[in-house]
Amino acid sequence: MTFSDLGISPLILRAITDAGYTEPTAVQAESIPAALAGEDLLVSAQTGSGKTAAFLLPALVKLTERSSASGKGPRVLVLTPTRELAQQVEKNATEYGTHLRWLRTVCLVGGASFGYQVRAMSRPVDIMVATPGRLMDHMRQGRVDFSRLEMLVLDEADRMLDMGFIEDIETIVRATPESRQTVMFSATLDGVVGKLAEKLTRNARRVEIARAESGGNIEEHLLYADNQAHKDRLLDHVLREAGFDQAVIFTATKVGAEELADKLTDQGFSAACLHGDMPQNWRNRTLNDLRRGRIKVLVATDVAARGIDVPTIDLVVNYDLPKQAEDYVHRIGRTGRAGRDGVAITMSETKEFHRVRRIEQYLKRKITEGVVEGLEPTRRPPKGGNGNQRRNANGGNGQRRPHGNGNGGSGYGGQRKPGNGYGKRAPRQQSAG
Ligand SMILES: Nc1ncnc2c1ncn2[C@@H]1O[C@H](COP(=O)(O)OP(=O)(O)OP(=O)(O)O)[C@@H](O)[C@H]1O
Ligand SMILES: [Mg+2]
Repeated sequence: MTFSDLGISPLILRAITDAGYTEPTAVQAESIPAALAGEDLLVSAQTGSGKTAAFLLPALVKLTERSSASGKGPRVLVLTPTRELAQQVEKNATEYGTHLRWLRTVCLVGGASFGYQVRAMSRPVDIMVATPGRLMDHMRQGRVDFSRLEMLVLDEADRMLDMGFIEDIETIVRATPESRQTVMFSATLDGVVGKLAEKLTRNARRVEIARAESGGNIEEHLLYADNQAHKDRLLDHVLREAGFDQAVIFTATKVGAEELADKLTDQGFSAACLHGDMPQNWRNRTLNDLRRGRIKVLVATDVAARGIDVPTIDLVVNYDLPKQAEDYVHRIGRTGRAGRDGVAITMSETKEFHRVRRIEQYLKRKITEGVVEGLEPTRRPPKGGNGNQRRNANGGNGQRRPHGNGNGGSGYGGQRKPGNGYGKRAPRQQSAG
């Protein structure tokens, strides 16, 4: 299967070849033809599996045909929960559309200049990418004309609902033509998302790409700790011994993210934090520095990192457990993007074991527990609880992940090799500058 088999036109093909894509991913192979045929779609697929191109490529193909409607409003609208994600999607659109000279995109997000956004909308727009809040601000001022809108995309729909955007989304959708095509992406397609989908879509085709049972190409470990000081020692060990390129560390709070980033900087790591209370230009700079490799360790909160694609991230550490089980999946999904390998290490205080169990119940598998020699926890969580799910741990179908105590060359299961415990890459000196 090739992109041209899917109906992608030559100028766009050239751009994706430039981007180094040789063949469509599963979610792209299934979504693109249906989207091109004009179907509404309800899509869920694993993190890092190329969902962005799954909606942007058919959108761009449609845009290569002239619109019969007059006006300046966008022909494609993409809604995302966060500013960073909106900016990333716009960037992908300009990348895939780089040979479409006429293509005009606009990104409407909070924390950025109103004037710039207004000016951008004074000329015809093809693709608008927006967060609901800022788009609503522009709509209230009568600046957005949706009369020529052909396609509406909701990326990370579940997260937008979690963030309380339901009313904004409904208001925005009411302002768009009934004739539009609607495409929704979400980690879960049932519950509230399903209800919203029923309202917004017509005979939507469901595209559900099952996630590899074993966790795919992300090697997961669980490290129990006695207390926070113990977690700090484990983190230090992980960051010094693991030969990683770039890491994202998740904390539960914004303050926690700042404090940890400061601490790591003091220890000589080129670390920075990313959370929603930071001014937007600072958030942007941080992400750019991460993309350029100037930041090695990013300490982030859940919201800030959702959907973010920085392919060089090869290590995720859950310094604090995620509040919601599904956040675990999105957090570790910051690594192992586009079929690459990654390592995800989750730390938990022993007394929080029930929160780990909840995550495992959600995953329907166990996260293999490891220990670091010399840093073993003094107490162990009680046995039992999820024993019946153990058989799912490796999918039973010859997947490449090792069974049992997580000894997959990663050094967290007892047979720790000295130095680079991951057996993948030589240890690198992580230093500031
Ligand atoms: N067909 C392809 N071949 C190779 N790489 C691809 C292909 N499609 C997308 N990619 C790359 O895969 C990475 C992940 O893509 P994307 O951000 O769209 O994932 P996603 O499914 O939206 O993930 P998330 O659930 O975390 O938002 C990107 O770096 C993208 O450039
Ligand atoms: Mg995405």
